[in-house]
Amino acid sequence: TEGIKIYDPAYTNTAVARSAISYIDGDKGVLLYRGYPIEELAEKSSFLEVSFLLLYGELPTKPELDHWNSMIMHHTFIHENLRDFMQSFRYDSHPMGMLVSSFAAMSTFHPEANPALSGADIYNDIRLRNKQIHRIMGKVPTIAANAYRHRMGRPFNHPVNHLTYTENFLYMMDRLSESNYRPNPQLARALDILFILHADHEMNCSTAAMRHIASSQVDPYTAMSGAAAALYGPLHGGANEAVLRMLEQIGTVQNVPAFIESVKQKKGKLFGFGHRVYKNYDPRAKIIQRIAYEVIEICGGNEPLIEVAVALEKAALSDSYFIDRKLYPNVDFYSGLIYRSMGFPTDMFPVLFAIPRVAGWLAHWNEDIEKGERRIWRPLQVYVGEKERAYVPLQQRQ
Ligand code: SDX
Repeated sequence: TEGIKIYDPAYTNTAVARSAISYIDGDKGVLLYRGYPIEELAEKSSFLEVSFLLLYGELPTKPELDHWNSMIMHHTFIHENLRDFMQSFRYDSHPMGMLVSSFAAMSTFHPEANPALSGADIYNDIRLRNKQIHRIMGKVPTIAANAYRHRMGRPFNHPVNHLTYTENFLYMMDRLSESNYRPNPQLARALDILFILHADHEMNCSTAAMRHIASSQVDPYTAMSGAAAALYGPLHGGANEAVLRMLEQIGTVQNVPAFIESVKQKKGKLFGFGHRVYKNYDPRAKIIQRIAYEVIEICGGNEPLIEVAVALEKAALSDSYFIDRKLYPNVDFYSGLIYRSMGFPTDMFPVLFAIPRVAGWLAHWNEDIEKGERRIWRPLQVYVGEKERAYVPLQQRQ
């Protein structure tokens, strides 16, 4: 605390965020959502059930889950003007750029979510707040699918609300958009589990961005746009895209030793490895690796890069450079291989991270409001600049 002046003990509330949503033990490789182990939720739950748990703190009863599902699946359509807005992007725009912009654009369609504009009290009117949550959960997959379809130069597919949340997303993504198309249920389940695993993760960069921006009392759509912008970065949610590009660059198992040496010489990063909190294996990575084998098998079993990834992991985990720095596979190391096998283009991978993480961002937004946090986030700063000094006239400067 040298040099830090705490003018107001309450500052500790903003420098250290308190939350009851996710718990991580980085040394033991433990992740709990509202106390439930991620392994159990991935095996027994669904993404929509987990998003209810994250937001409201308890697993839903059957009536609650049916209502939650119905509310969300009846908010999957987006305004025609927002569709036109998405059509106006350049044909080769990165899907994450379209997502970040479209999330911000959503705020212009729902001014009632911004108390400064509408006077509506979203902070005390839980009904109004839940309406925004249902809207966002329902519309995000549609916006994500539209970003993909725009990249493909294809017309947007309308949502099909009798499908499940993940099936509907895959339907809207479908290249052929045949009306009777029904996604492969095993692939839909695999994606649903990936959505569960990506839904929340304590105070990560994008979640902190969501809470930080929302603390200024701007609407959740605008705050979510900032959170998606943070997730876009290759050190965060963009890492799954960077992993695939890294595996493609390595190309074959024979090239792994040379790549490992280049990383040790600081010529590049081993994307998909390392974590600010996990100094052990990311529990999500273990589940994703298992799913990767299953999905690749379903999709024809022809994914040569999985062997490169396995060889890369084996080489790194037997090398003191990585062990000494506690660098283990994280959530992004194998997920890209699954998405690629399912036919998603590489630049859609961060979007597939963003869709489920929206549930976590909303849970943190809701938690701050329910806790009565009205304080703007302003982290502590340690000043390390010049001491006070007098102005020097221009003619005296050399
Ligand atoms: C996610 O926070 C979250 O919870 C994020 C996330 C979530 O669910 O929200 O889990 C999702 O973002 C996972 C992380 C995805 N990112 C990547 O895979 C990118 C590659 N990883 C690194 O950039 C890095 O590991 C970070 C950013 C993830 C974490 O970095 P840290 O903990 O700040 O570690 P550091 O940068 O201080 O590095 C410590 C040492 C350094 O070496 P030395 O200077 O001590 O010699 O480890 C090295 C680093 O150079 N190092 C790596 C490395 N990660 C750290 N060396 C090679 N490859 C890597 N990936």
